Amino acid sequence: MASTNVKKQDYDVNRVMRSQRKGHHALVLWFVGLSGSGKSTVSDALELFLHQKQMDTYTLDGDNIRMGINKDLGFTAADRSENIRRIAEVGKLFTDAGTVVLTAFITPLERDRERARAILGDDYIEIYVNCPLEVCEARDVKGLYARARKGEIPNFTGISAPFEVPVHPDVEIKTNEQSVDECVTQIWNTIKNKLTSRL
Ligand code: ADX
Repeated sequence: MASTNVKKQDYDVNRVMRSQRKGHHALVLWFVGLSGSGKSTVSDALELFLHQKQMDTYTLDGDNIRMGINKDLGFTAADRSENIRRIAEVGKLFTDAGTVVLTAFITPLERDRERARAILGDDYIEIYVNCPLEVCEARDVKGLYARARKGEIPNFTGISAPFEVPVHPDVEIKTNEQSVDECVTQIWNTIKNKLTSRL
C-alpha cells in the first residue's frame, strides 16, 4: 500500500444534504460494450433525458478520459484494469458530490467490473450494450476495426483481446434491434425509482 498514515476526514456538508438540495439521488450508470456498440450514443441520449428532468449529470467517456487523467495508460490487461479502477474512484467522488454519472468504457473483463461494483457498492448500475461484433465491425465508426484486422492495433477488443460477456448486468440493451429512444426508456424504467425515491 503506497498511502499509509492517512485517516478519513469528515465534513459538515455530506452526500445526503447535497442530494436533498439537488432533489435526486446519485448513481453511476456504467455502460459496458464493444467499441462501436453504441455506449456513447445511448449514454449521450440518456444524459440529455436526465438533464431535461433537471438532474445533475456528468459523462466520463473512454476516449476523452484517455486524453487526460488516464493518458499514461494503454490497452494491456493491466492498463485497462487501472483505467477502470480510476474511473470507479472518480465516479465515487462524483456520486458523493450528488451527481448522476454515466460512464462509457469497454470494460471488457468481468473481474474489473466486479472491482468497480465493489468500489461503488449499490451506486453501480451495469448496463450491457449488447451488439454483435460483426455489426460493430461493419459500422467501424472510427476505422479502428479495419486497422486492427490488418494488425496495426495490438490488443484490440474483439479482434486480438478478449471481451467477456457480462454475467449479471442490471440492464441489457440491444442496439442492433432497439432504437436509441427505446434503450433510453428501458434504462430509465430500471433506474427511476433509485434516482427519485424519497430523499
Ligand atoms: S477499456 O478496455 O479500458 O475499457 P476504453 O473504453 O477506455 O477501453 O477505451 C476504448 C477506446 O479506445 C475505443 O473506443 C477506441 O476508440 C480506442 N482504442 C484504441 N486502441 C484500442 C484497443 N487496442 N482496444 C480497444 N479500443 C481501443
